[in-house]
Amino acid sequence: MRMTVIGTGYLGATHAACMAELGHEVLGVDVDESKISRLSSGEVPFFEPGLPEVLERNIQAGRLDFTTDYARAADFATVHFIGVGTPQQRGSYAADTRYVEAVIDDLVPQLTGDHVIFGKSTVPVGTAAALQERADALSKPDTTVEIAWNPEFLREGYAVKDTIEPDRIVLGTCGVDSRAEAIAREIYAIPLARETPFLVTNLQTAELVKVSANAFLATKISFINAVSEVCEIVGADVTQLADAIGHDDRIGRKFLGAGLGFGGGCLPKDIRAFMARAGELGADQALAFLREVDAINMRRRQRVVDLAREELGSLIGRRITVLGAAFKPNSDDVRDSPALAVAGQLSLAGAAVRVYDPEAMDNARRVFPTLDYATSLDDALTGAELVILATEWQQFREMDPAHAGELVQDRLLIDGRNVLTTEAWQAAGWRLRALGRG
Ligand code: UGA
Repeated sequence: MRMTVIGTGYLGATHAACMAELGHEVLGVDVDESKISRLSSGEVPFFEPGLPEVLERNIQAGRLDFTTDYARAADFATVHFIGVGTPQQRGSYAADTRYVEAVIDDLVPQLTGDHVIFGKSTVPVGTAAALQERADALSKPDTTVEIAWNPEFLREGYAVKDTIEPDRIVLGTCGVDSRAEAIAREIYAIPLARETPFLVTNLQTAELVKVSANAFLATKISFINAVSEVCEIVGADVTQLADAIGHDDRIGRKFLGAGLGFGGGCLPKDIRAFMARAGELGADQALAFLREVDAINMRRRQRVVDLAREELGSLIGRRITVLGAAFKPNSDDVRDSPALAVAGQLSLAGAAVRVYDPEAMDNARRVFPTLDYATSLDDALTGAELVILATEWQQFREMDPAHAGELVQDRLLIDGRNVLTTEAWQAAGWRLRALGRG
């Protein structure tokens, strides 16, 4: 099938490349010239394992191209995906849907014939119906434009796998006379042949599925982090507790990783946008608990700073190494990163903070130019009075405590992600503090 993918950020670039990988002819569209020229030359502007190979292969095969020209997009296909961002609005919790609206405004007046637009961006419930009205008002006579919603569930770091082999496909349609389901079945023929669950709903259900999934994941993480606060006071071990409750398959062990909490471009903004939308709909009480989920999450960052102060006394001038800047491993994304928030707070409190991350250094430097950035893990550890493991990269999990001990000034470490083997580090003479482990 021929299709366009409008918006070539994390979601759009991945979707475009993976749709081409499934055999479709894809045109990626963005207003950002530099993004388009990098993608056209086979360069992925962010770190995502496996994506550069998929991009390169499909450009070579002639199935994938990129443009900034909406007129070309309008002529190229009758199926379009929207993958532009919906960031948090300035000064409000609500999502900013102006980029999604701009796609309709720029694309629809140029369309001729019968088109279906699949929204993939995470939007407040009601957006798809509003976009349908907007599209109806802008489309030419004798042209039809149907809006459907097809939320995306990909995780950074696993984006290719999650797109090509999704664990479910959700499609919201307007119901009567919808062409979207038949088209989606063709687009996703390969995953559907593997019996991927396919759920067809109305527009508002599909929109809500996405934010509910992220709100649930955020709640699960904050639940274990709240329990971890109690564990710390009474000397219980939250990791053992999570293992024990996780064996109940109604609960499950995934997303019970206690520690510095969640960050990134999705979970924090999505729970806030969900609360804001519920408020607009007169259902603010229903989601009031998400405010607590957010607060628990933010307290974890403060807790690490407090632990550093407990261990070092005054922070002024103290040499602290923060391992990790990305919001999670296998990503170079530093949006709302707990690691970088901790590094920033320590620095503002007067500590001499040195940061190291295997992939996110450039992005971190742009956000926090005043921090000191190490050139390697060894360089980061050298002379440290305190080491904080803030993002659980494999390289950090596999650190040798004896070797690290020779580099630092003091063998003092806060495991902000509960991933190190306490005994091995203690045996090498380290004093270890961890969140929720007494
Ligand atoms: C999340 C969802 O997992 C995806 O399904 C969704 O498609 C995506 O948002 C989105 O809306 O686009 P992502 O932001 O890539 O994906 O990251 P996650 O793997 O969900 O991790 C989120 C945060 O939770 C990270 O900061 C991670 O360190 C933290 N986390 C995760 C924990 O603190 N503990 C855990 O046990 C698991």
